[in-house]
This record gives sequence, C-alpha cells and structure tokens, in this order.
Amino acid sequence: METKDLIQHTTPFYCYDLKLLNETLEEAKKHAKKYEYHIHYALKANTHNRILNSIQEIGFGADCVSGNEVKKALEIGFPTSKIAFAGVGKTDEEILIGLENEIFAFNCESIEEIEVINQLAKEQNKTARIALRLNPNVDAYTHKYITTGLEENKFGINSWELENLIELLPSWANIELTGLHFHIGSQITSMTPFKNLCIRVNELNKWFSERNIRIQHLNLGGGLGIDYNEPEKNPIPDFELFFGVFNQFLEPFSHQEIHFELGRSLVGNCGSLISKVLYIKKGIKTNFAILDAGMTELLRPAIYQAYHYIENITTASDNKEFYDVVGPICESSDCFGKKMELKETKRGDYVKIHSTGAYGEVMSSKYNLREQNPVVFLD
Ligand SMILES: Cc1ncc(COP(=O)(O)O)c(C=O)c1O
Repeated sequence: METKDLIQHTTPFYCYDLKLLNETLEEAKKHAKKYEYHIHYALKANTHNRILNSIQEIGFGADCVSGNEVKKALEIGFPTSKIAFAGVGKTDEEILIGLENEIFAFNCESIEEIEVINQLAKEQNKTARIALRLNPNVDAYTHKYITTGLEENKFGINSWELENLIELLPSWANIELTGLHFHIGSQITSMTPFKNLCIRVNELNKWFSERNIRIQHLNLGGGLGIDYNEPEKNPIPDFELFFGVFNQFLEPFSHQEIHFELGRSLVGNCGSLISKVLYIKKGIKTNFAILDAGMTELLRPAIYQAYHYIENITTASDNKEFYDVVGPICESSDCFGKKMELKETKRGDYVKIHSTGAYGEVMSSKYNLREQNPVVFLD
C-alpha cells in the first residue's frame, strides 16, 4: 500500500504487512525443519486472527499464557496436540480449560502448581501432561524486565527444588511428566546466552536421565530478537544462525523432540504503528513532536525504554532535525524516544513507528478512554 492510501485511515492505527509475515514464517520453518525442530508461536506477542491463521496454516503450534489464549488457539484451529499452556499463575478455571481440551502440555512453574493440576485432573478423571519450567540461571543480557531465566526472577523451578520434586512425582497419579521447559528472556540478539542455555539444559537433561526419568521433549522457549535499529535492512531475523546454535550445542537423547516458543522474531517486524503529528512544541533543549499515538497504543518505550525506529513518511523535506517524540498522555514516561532524528517535521505529518508487530497492540490500553481505531492489513 502506498503512503497516500495508508494516510486515508484515521490515526493512530496499527498496520500489518502479511507478505513480510509469511516470508518470516517460511524462513523460520525452513531452518527449523533441517533439524526437525518444532515451533510453537507465543500468542502473547500478537493475537490477530489473520496473523494467527497464517501461523496455524504453516503448521506451527501455539504457546499460550492464559485460558483465553488457549480458547483463542482452539478457535483458530490449532490442534490440541500442539497447544502448550505456560504461565506462573494459572487459575483453576484456566487449568480446567487445558484439561478439558487435553492439551499437549502444561508448562509448570512450581511444585504447588503441579499439586493443583494433579488434584483438578483427578477430579476430572484425566491425566495432565506437564513440562517442568526450570530456571537455568542463565543471563540473557537483555533488559531486566524481559530477563526471565535468573534465580532472582519469579519464573521457573529452581535446581535446589528438583530432588524434592522427583520424590513427589510418583504421588501425583494424574500427572505425566513429558518435558523440560526453559525460557531465559526476550529480545536476545547475541547467540552466547543461547549457547549457555544449551550447556545448562544438557546438564539438567542428564540429571533426569540418571534418575531414570524419561523426558520426551525439551522446550527451549523463545527470545530471539529482531533488528529494531534497522528493520528495513534486516526485516527477518537470522533463524539459520539461531537454530544452528542449538544444533551445535544441545545434546538431546535420540528419542527427544526439540520445541521452541517464538513470538517477537515471527511477528515483530511485520507491524507498524502509524500516527499523526499534532503539534511541534519548542522545548528548552529540544523540540517535542507530539503525536496522536501514545503509551496507550504502544507501551514498550514507557516500560522497557524500548527503541523503535520512527520515520516521517509524508514530509517533502530532506532536512534532518532532532525531536523528543512523545504521546498525548499525562505521564512523563509517555515518550517514544528522546533526541530522535527525523526529517523536518510539522503538524499534520504522518510518522511510522516501525517493528511494533510484537507486544505492541496486544499491550494497548483504554487509559484516558482512548479510542481504538481499526487495523489495516497489507496483503
Ligand atoms: C515462557 C515464554 N515463552 C515464549 C515467549 C516468547 O518470547 P519471544 O517473543 O521473545 O520469542 C515468552 C515471552 O516473554 C515467554 O514468557
């Protein structure tokens, strides 16, 4: 779609490039297939039906973190045998949705949670397949709010709890332990944390094997980052390198399936947030470009100081200026970036905030009774 067509829509709005989405999915599939790796898509990144349809059609499974995400995955047509349900705080009602539908696995994060699942499964006369989310204590070297694999984080079962856990295992008659699950964080662009993860997974995998516990699948989570700085130059992440690291360093037993839960790397770069400039306000050190989109549409900069490349898509000027690009919400954190270099910008110009396909629209809120405008899909 050309800019002139794009700017017919009421701003702010999200726009998704389905061609890029499908190219990204094909690329991920191609490189995972080489090693017979299974991909589950982390629905939390983006739950639009059209996006989910493409992902389901290509054959990926679904990684869900709420009962409603499990329901959504079922509605879209993901087979129950490909639905995993993760999350540190599943409610009884949510667990029952998973049990009713006999999903692939509950990724469990504490002994207490397993006890509740066992009890609920017993009441339903079912057996729940579970994977243990283990805390590998591996640093992802990403933003602290998206680091999840350290002992100080709330996620996963720590290694000192494992002896106790396996002693309890025979008493859980309605639980079948099928997998080990790991997820160290998100937006990881160096391969070193993934290599370190493999080394730790190998140790833990052997630990279970030495105790004659047969683990059918290893789930290495997600976390592969995208290029937020130059999304046009690198729209598709390097899946070849990513899966290659696991092929090189992971030592699974021959019967074990290897699973991944990718979110951002599959959908991050196919989305953009289009917004109109309301005012240019002179500040002391810099000018503010005040947009009609704010943290209510895109929260990532406010909560993770996340960088998104911002481009003025309508100006005729070639002069570059620096702006603090901000939203209209009464919060100082409602800022998309300080000292952002844009082509000279004036009221009425349209800007494109790139790489907002993951953790963008799904985190939007109604704060200030904000309108939610229709989404545009580019086929
Ligand atoms: C358990 C789990 N799996 C997978 C993902 C997806 O991660 P990403 O979008 O970085 O691939 C997340 C995201 O935080 C997660 O918490």
